[in-house]
Amino acid sequence: MRKGIILAGGKGKRLHPITKVISKQLIPVYDKPLIFYPLSVLIKIGITDILIICVPTDLKIFKKLIHDLRLKNIKISFKSQKKPNGLPEAFKIGKKFIGKSDVALILGDNIFYNKDLNSIINKYIYEKNTASIFIKKVKKPNEFGVITKTSRGINIEEKPKKPKSNNVITGIYFFPNDVCKKVVKLKFSSRGETEITDLIKIYINENRINLVNLKNTIWLDTGNPDNLLKASNIIYKLKKNKKISVGNLD
Ligand code: TTP
Repeated sequence: MRKGIILAGGKGKRLHPITKVISKQLIPVYDKPLIFYPLSVLIKIGITDILIICVPTDLKIFKKLIHDLRLKNIKISFKSQKKPNGLPEAFKIGKKFIGKSDVALILGDNIFYNKDLNSIINKYIYEKNTASIFIKKVKKPNEFGVITKTSRGINIEEKPKKPKSNNVITGIYFFPNDVCKKVVKLKFSSRGETEITDLIKIYINENRINLVNLKNTIWLDTGNPDNLLKASNIIYKLKKNKKISVGNLD
């Protein structure tokens, strides 16, 4: 069974005061709670064993929301993260869940849409012992992990002040099983978190990385109020104008 983790904790500071009393991934994006979108991506790409990681106070509400969906042939389990110690902590919290599998990680506030997303992603993720990250060109790369390709190889920098390219990593990643071992070696950054870019660096240095360009794919990171509103509008327009329903779970 293929495994995936949705990281749905975090501080959600940029969305205060909305996220002062409720998790970001529970607030609506057009007609669905945000978490439905990354959940639908994992299901679409054939992942049937899913772990949702959230803040301890919202564990009950996430469980109710998901159980009420009565998803067929999909196993969903839940764990909480006590403190937002960074994205790589997903692989510590999820160690037992991951077991001997490789694992996908998707951020609980990221939305992806491409009708061929399944084949695009599945083309790469079966390469044994290799991590796959999915990149996209954006206007403001300094808010993300920035990827540059040089003659000496691939370079990745977390939120650089002066980005060397417009290519950034999106919020979906695939790691081989040894990610659980790698993650314990990570040190806290100056932001007080462990960084996914440091984890990716390990795979770059070992020459075990696939970079996949998600061109022609809609990618929405909903972490701030403007992007959240933009996401609702895009999803509304896709439904009304093109009869495309993003984030469907049936
Ligand atoms: P971010 O948007 O980087 O962080 P955040 O949600 O805490 O927001 P802010 O910067 O506004 O305070 O997180 C990306 C996703 O990962 C989001 O769904 C929250 C989740 N996350 C965790 O579950 N645990 C963590 O330790 C971190 C850092 C993020």
